[in-house]
This record gives sequence, structure tokens and C-alpha cells, in this order.
Amino acid sequence: MTKLLITGGAGFIGSNFVHFTLKNRPEYEITVVDKLTYAGNMDSLTEVMDKITFVKGDICDKELMDKLVSETDVIVHFAAESHNDNSLRDPWPFIYTNIVGTYTILEAVRKHGKRLHHISTDEVYGDLELDDPNKFTENTQYNPSSPYSSAKASSDMLVKAWVRSFGVKATLSNCSNNYGPYQHIEKFIPRQITNILSGISPKLYGTGEQVRDWIHVDDHNSAVHTILDKGKIGELYLIGANGEQNNKYVLETILELMGKDKNAYEHVNDRPGHDMRYAIDSSKLRKELGWLPKYTNLREGLQATIDWYTKNDAWWKNEKAKVEAAYAEKGQ
Ligand code: NAD
Ligand code: TYD
Repeated sequence: MTKLLITGGAGFIGSNFVHFTLKNRPEYEITVVDKLTYAGNMDSLTEVMDKITFVKGDICDKELMDKLVSETDVIVHFAAESHNDNSLRDPWPFIYTNIVGTYTILEAVRKHGKRLHHISTDEVYGDLELDDPNKFTENTQYNPSSPYSSAKASSDMLVKAWVRSFGVKATLSNCSNNYGPYQHIEKFIPRQITNILSGISPKLYGTGEQVRDWIHVDDHNSAVHTILDKGKIGELYLIGANGEQNNKYVLETILELMGKDKNAYEHVNDRPGHDMRYAIDSSKLRKELGWLPKYTNLREGLQATIDWYTKNDAWWKNEKAKVEAAYAEKGQ
């Protein structure tokens, strides 16, 4: 058995990673460490609690991380403050968790000589123009726009420096926008689905022409396992599934799939500094490690996600009023 420590395993991608690993990679023995912030939800792990060890704790807690890292073989580091809009309201938790937390993990990994995989985002590269023929590659210069993406960029830089200066055995991956089950309802796709299910108008920022490169969360997680299996230490891999669509199209598709008029939404205040377009060239991962995505039909993926939020309203209902009240304060 290989011991696997998953940080942020009660969040969206981390909890899906726990489910994916239990289903597909039974050779791993899983421990999750999660602070259970507003974004962490134990209900995302209820079904598997008898198969994993769960530790409630902060990745910035040096003693705790030292102990947990010393007891494991591999660490996959998902824990982060992850929402751009929150980072514009209050950047501090982003500096604390994303930067100090990653530093704390790196020091424990350095001391105990363990293998680390660091999870990051394509948002570290800033944005592209709508008509730019280029996509982000591993050689694109970092140019983050928001407190969230700059704190993630900082964490990536720390990992790269610890690899070079201290020989830490780490890999990194930067993925595009994920969607799927267990995503917090503050994020674009689940917010719109749960608005419609609650009889609230969907909310589109600005004109909605911004483009995101959507990937199903299981494709992100299969790529992470491919990197754990075959990735070269010190290397960074971009993860993407050629899923570029603008926000207006995604919202209209959700409305149509839910049997509503495709114009039944409101334009609300735009996000300050809103990145225009993200797009990933994932050839390195595909050519060097042989990874391929499975869920490339966005319409089908959206339908499955709508079905999940419809069936699992107990998972999100209690949060809905609070999330919408926070958006309403900013006219969003
Ligand atoms: P999320 O906000 O849903 O989950 C984050 C989890 O981390 C939560 O369970 C939270 O309780 C936990 N956490 C926060 N601070 C912590 C701390 N100090 N100590 C321990 N646990 C803490 O986020 P997500 O969308 O699942 O993102 C996971 C990772 O993937 C992040 O590193 C994010 O930057 C990256 N990422 C996300 C996307 C996306 O589309 N969501 C895309 C690319 C990369
Ligand atoms: P989001 O899910 O917050 O992800 P990110 O900021 O990491 O890309 O937002 C995705 C896109 O959707 C982004 O361009 C902002 C936009 N958006 C809306 O139009 N309406 C909304 O209610 C939200 C939350 C986001």
C-alpha cells in the first residue's frame, strides 16, 4: 500500500479526487487533512468515511503538517482559498493559506524527503485576448491578475524554488476551470444551476463574452494520477481538455437543458479586473505522459452536473441564502 496524504480533501476537486482514487486506485491508503473552511464539506465524504482517515486541521500548522507528512509516502496538495470574488473582498486568507500553507508543506516535505504534487491553476498566466491564436503552455510567463491567482502563482514559485535549491521531489500541475459534482455554489456553473432550482434569476457578469476552458473534474484528477505515476520530478504540466466556451454560451446551455427560456437571466456588475480568456495547450501532458481526457462533451457534462445538483439539494440548500446575500451586496 502507498500512503497518500490529500490536503483540502473536503473541497470540490479534493473530494472528487478521494472518490476517484478509491474507485480506480485501491493500492492507495488515504488520509485527508482539511481545515473545513466555508468551502470544505464533510457531506462530500460521508459515503467513504469508513475507508479513509480524516484529520481536521490547518496546513499552516507546522507541527501537524510535520507529523502527517512524516507518516505518509506521497502528498497531493489541493488545499487553498480558491474563489476570485472572495479574494477581491479580503485577500488575507489567500496569502495565508495559499502561500504560508504551501511553504509549511514544503518545509515538512524537505525535512522528511517525501514526494509532493502541487495543484495549481492556469490563472497564474493572466489572460489572453479573445482572438489570440495562442494558448497557455508550460513556457508562458506568469502574469496573474487577482489576489487569488497571484497567491497561487507565489505558491508555484515556492515549489519550483524548493525543487531547485533543496532537491525536493515535487511536480506541479496547472489546470483550467473544473466543473462537476460537489463544487461550492459560489462558483459560476453550480451558482446558475442552483439559482434556477431555487427560482432565482441566473446572474451573468458584464457582457458574458469572457471565455473559460472547461474540464470535467474527473479528467483533472485522472491527469493528476498520470503525473503521480509517470511525471518527471521538477516538471510542471498543464491540464486542459480543449473546452473553451464563453460564459454566455454556458449559461444559455444550462437554461436550455433545464427547460427554461435561454434569455431568462440578468446581467449584473462585472468583476473588477475580470480575466478575458483562459486556454490551455496540454500537448506536453498528452505527448510525454500519454494522458487523454474522457469527458469532452460539455453539454453532456452539464446535464450530468444539473442532475447531480437536482438530486442532491440537501448538499447545498442550507448555504444558498448566505451565498446569494453576499453577492447581492456587490450588485452581483
Ligand atoms: P475548494 O475551495 O472547493 O476547496 C478547498 C478546500 O481546502 C476546502 O475543503 C477547504 O476547507 C480547504 N482549506 C482551505 N484552507 C485550508 C487550510 N488553511 N488548511 C487546510 N485546508 C484548507 O477548492 P477547489 O476548487 O477544490 O480547488 C482545489 C485546488 O485546485 C486549489 O488549489 C485550486 O487553486 C486548484 N484549482 C481549482 C480549479 C477550479 O476550477 N476549481 C482549477 C484549477 C486549479
Ligand atoms: P468562477 O466560477 O468564479 O471561476 P474563475 O473566476 O476561476 O474563472 O467564474 C467563471 C466565470 O464566470 C468568470 O468569467 C466569472 C463568471 N461568473 C458569472 O458570470 N456569474 C457568476 O455568478 C459567477 C460566480 C461567475
